[in-house]
Amino acid sequence: MAGRSTDEPQREQPEAVRVLLSRTAVRQFTDQPVGDDLVGPMSEALVAAPSASNRQAWAFVLVRDRRVVRLVQAFSPGVLATPPLIVVACFDRSRGVGDTGERYDECLLCVAMAVQNLLLAAHALGLGGCPVASFRERPLRRVLGLPAHIDPILLVSVGHPVRLNPHPVRRDPSEVIHHDVWSGGDAPRAR
Ligand SMILES: Cc1cc2nc3c(=O)[nH]c(=O)nc-3n(C[C@H](O)[C@H](O)[C@H](O)COP(=O)(O)O)c2cc1C
Repeated sequence: MAGRSTDEPQREQPEAVRVLLSRTAVRQFTDQPVGDDLVGPMSEALVAAPSASNRQAWAFVLVRDRRVVRLVQAFSPGVLATPPLIVVACFDRSRGVGDTGERYDECLLCVAMAVQNLLLAAHALGLGGCPVASFRERPLRRVLGLPAHIDPILLVSVGHPVRLNPHPVRRDPSEVIHHDVWSGGDAPRAR
């Protein structure tokens, strides 16, 4: 795979672009708690995300109680170290259906957009985080007491990073971005 490191020096960028280019997944955290002063702006960032038809068909459970964090972690192989905060990002099915019963499956994407906002806000605030899809839904529902119309989609572990990881190699933009029309022929053979 052609790739490049996004750790390479970037030319002068606006602050917001610098933040999103420097974010990497953080999976190891110090014991320092995540206080309300940090939870506040991250909560604002979550709900500032774009959403299909502005339906905002999302809901979030912010878990900071150490006992509950450990219970969630027990059912989530993707949460490697015990973080001080786990954000459980959910799809609210009651808002993903229109007045005449039409389904808004695209609302699932909005949950992902909110999670990206959260990751960027966390990074800008000096925290780190990692989205985690590897969890067992049934026990997670039970631990959190989620109602039937709320589906957990992603967990996000958040905390003060032990260290910042280097960027994993990225595919080069020229390999994945086409201008005006598709260029470059058919798909490569499956590896
Ligand atoms: C939808 C989704 C699910 C993910 N699930 C996991 C997971 O279960 N465990 C994990 O360690 N990382 C998980 N990640 C994090 C990715 O491994 C990580 O984002 C990717 O390797 C790129 O690294 P970067 O975030 O540092 O750029 C997930 C990321 C996404 C977007």
